Amino acid sequence: MHEGIDFEVSELINRPQKVNFSGWGMQTAHENPWNDKYQWGNFRETNTLLKSNFDHGLLYGVSSNNIDYLQYRHWNVSFAIRYALEFKEDNLNSFNLVECGVGDGLSALFALAEVDDYYKKLAGSVSYKFHLYDAWEDIKNDATLSSEMKSVGVKYQTQSIERAKSNLMKYYQLYNFFIPA
Ligand SMILES: C[S@@+](CC[C@H](N)C(=O)[O-])C[C@H]1O[C@@H](n2cnc3c(N)ncnc32)[C@H](O)[C@@H]1O
Repeated sequence: MHEGIDFEVSELINRPQKVNFSGWGMQTAHENPWNDKYQWGNFRETNTLLKSNFDHGLLYGVSSNNIDYLQYRHWNVSFAIRYALEFKEDNLNSFNLVECGVGDGLSALFALAEVDDYYKKLAGSVSYKFHLYDAWEDIKNDATLSSEMKSVGVKYQTQSIERAKSNLMKYYQLYNFFIPA
């Protein structure tokens, strides 16, 4: 009995693990949640489409060539949107979504794709608007907490509202853009 358990444990520890995802500072041998037959076809399609159809303005490295390394990041956005929609009150047929820090629209694209797909399938009389905020320029010291300075500063100065609009063109009826005062 003990020998059997020992064997199973050492099997688990020593068995070579196939890596199913590596990126965004993590690595896992588990199946990726978006590889299912039920819910995540739209997420997979969005991830594929943006490889040929998204203009990344950031200088520091996100591009169509490495976007798969961020799949877990973007699946979390899609999951959060779907979760909020599924658990909203049944009679809530008009609502707003807000993103602060839109940049070139990468996370907004995943969010809009998910909400759009969800309502197309329901074909209901629901209205929603996505409000998108960003400075779309170099972030000034006085608009930034000292703890944030490391990650902002001039890092975002190449982002532009025009690029974000163009990246999100497909959903233009569903969003409003705002530059905070
Ligand atoms: C890490 S980027 C995220 C971009 C986008 N959400 C995505 O995931 O693709 C953070 C964004 O927040 C914006 N941001 C950060 N601090 C800000 C501030 N104080 N006022 C306005 N925008 C700010 C930056 O301009 C940048 O576009």
